[in-house]
Amino acid sequence: MQIKLTTGHIFDLNEGETLQDALKRNGVYLVASCGGKGICGKCKIKVIEGKYRTESIAKLTPEEIEQGFVLACKTFVVSEDITIDIPKTSKLVVGDIIEISRTKDLFELFTSIEKNIQPLINWLDIDIPAPTLDNNLSDLERLKRIIEEKGINSMEFSLDFVRSLPEILRKLEWKIRLAYINTDAGRKAMFIKSREEDKSYGIAVDIGTTTIVLYLVDLSNGKVIDTGSTYNSQIRFGDDVITRIIQATEGGMLDEMRENVVEDINNLLQPLLEKYNILSDEIHSAVIAGNTTMSHLFWGINPGFIREEPYVPVLNSFPVWSAGKINLSINKNAPVYTLPCVASYVGGDIVSGVIASKINLSKKISLFMDIGTNGEIVLGNEEWLVTAACSAGPCFEGSGIRHGMRATEGAIESVKIIPGTSEFVLGVIGNKKPIGICGSGMIDALTEMFMNGAIDQKGKIIKNKFTERIKEGFEGPEFILYKDDKREIVLTEVDIENLIRAKAAIFAGISLLLRETGFTFDDIEKIYIAGGFGNYLNIEKAIFIGMLPDIPREKFRFLGNTSIAGAYMCLLSENVRREAEYIAGKMTNIELSVSRGFMDEYISALFLPHTNIELYPSVKNILARKNT
Ligand code: FES
Repeated sequence: MQIKLTTGHIFDLNEGETLQDALKRNGVYLVASCGGKGICGKCKIKVIEGKYRTESIAKLTPEEIEQGFVLACKTFVVSEDITIDIPKTSKLVVGDIIEISRTKDLFELFTSIEKNIQPLINWLDIDIPAPTLDNNLSDLERLKRIIEEKGINSMEFSLDFVRSLPEILRKLEWKIRLAYINTDAGRKAMFIKSREEDKSYGIAVDIGTTTIVLYLVDLSNGKVIDTGSTYNSQIRFGDDVITRIIQATEGGMLDEMRENVVEDINNLLQPLLEKYNILSDEIHSAVIAGNTTMSHLFWGINPGFIREEPYVPVLNSFPVWSAGKINLSINKNAPVYTLPCVASYVGGDIVSGVIASKINLSKKISLFMDIGTNGEIVLGNEEWLVTAACSAGPCFEGSGIRHGMRATEGAIESVKIIPGTSEFVLGVIGNKKPIGICGSGMIDALTEMFMNGAIDQKGKIIKNKFTERIKEGFEGPEFILYKDDKREIVLTEVDIENLIRAKAAIFAGISLLLRETGFTFDDIEKIYIAGGFGNYLNIEKAIFIGMLPDIPREKFRFLGNTSIAGAYMCLLSENVRREAEYIAGKMTNIELSVSRGFMDEYISALFLPHTNIELYPSVKNILARKNT
């Protein structure tokens, strides 16, 4: 059996395999937001010729079914061959280098809290007397004795280190440079190198659920040499952490997912090493920051219990393991430090965010929020920190939204309704014809539609306005944002409900942390916003729909990717690494899913902007002006 693509490619198909699995096996990846459960509709493809059996038509319109569209994850071929067409919107782009907004000057941020560079690796230059017939101590005893003479005791030696010892000592004629790390128990020898090689580099990596960002750093001066970023290839297993956990455990994909993420990092690093003429062996340390699930998957540790009550990860504080354990393409004995996690849904990326935002150093109360694939928040000051994961879901990244997509070329990123008309002005990334809508476009659309009376406070489409843009779809009313001969981009009432749920979860999370700590919105001195679409978020509009609190706009600050910023600082400083462990240990996590108070806050926030309009005086004023 064969699958023929309209592009001319032909692949073998195994008996009983879904089209999605067959394509994946041959290196063709489809968007699979729900991880192949047949409920998101994102993996749709068009069958041109051939017989098939399908088990789900979720999210497909009657017209699409009529035209031969199927969900690849639930479709099996019953004829010999099948010819299919994969629409652009269903193709998953992974492995591409993507543009990132570089997070300000990190070195400046580093020097604002630390003066000295203290990488993970410490160096010790030693001359060891060569063995003779009269002095025939073993290699290891000989090394230990010299180290102790230098005043360094309790050095630990791994089997790998000892295995490498006889050759390297003799090759370097007993004049060596020993690399070791400090551990809780003392010190651990990592590797030996020649004193002639004086270059030393490190990498800081942010493993996001959606994107991976890598900074290559010169450890001699702390300067960032270059950066790279790409989509996390694990996207092919699903958009959100829950789907990934299910795929890793029930789907038996743990090893493959670990390999995916390591390969992504290696692929980002390789061109940088070539460009700057750096050897992989000269990368002497790495720091990883990710949410709890990403950190588990990176090390190949079962994340299954993260999603099962009582929601316990295997570990929050990770020992420093060596790069060779996971085939990271750097010096195989290089130490890899993982930012500590706080709880199942508050990970090292958030600890990184606290470090980068410095809210733990301020006397005043600040709020840190990372609006990425999930939505985590931290409230506190130098004395205390409370945190929560809002379960906002990845809908601002396109998941669960009919024409939702990530902020890539062709995504509607801004929407404006010309007052008094039903004309829409759309901003599209890359100035291309739109093929979908991304998070900032969704917030814009929601704001404009609400402000201009196209939807009511509950997000229901008002049928007697903008009549030419409203149609009845298979899931209920739909609002047409864009239409040409080929495609129509709509926001359905179901999409709007999902967006309102996501914004309500974020607002309710903030309200609950304030309520639990006895503070109010007025007590917040600064709100730091980090995360994927942080820099593109229009504060006014996010306030208008009730996602952010209605407080003075000058209190908001965008920080970009704070996960990489914290990882970078940990790469350069032992004090910052200690601070990271301290922050993770002292942060109080509030589990929102079992909090009664959260449900109350959430239900109150399921309105635009909120059930209690008095919480939104500026929105109340705008609406009052509109209605007079
Ligand atoms: S419907 Fe196929 S991956 Fe979601």
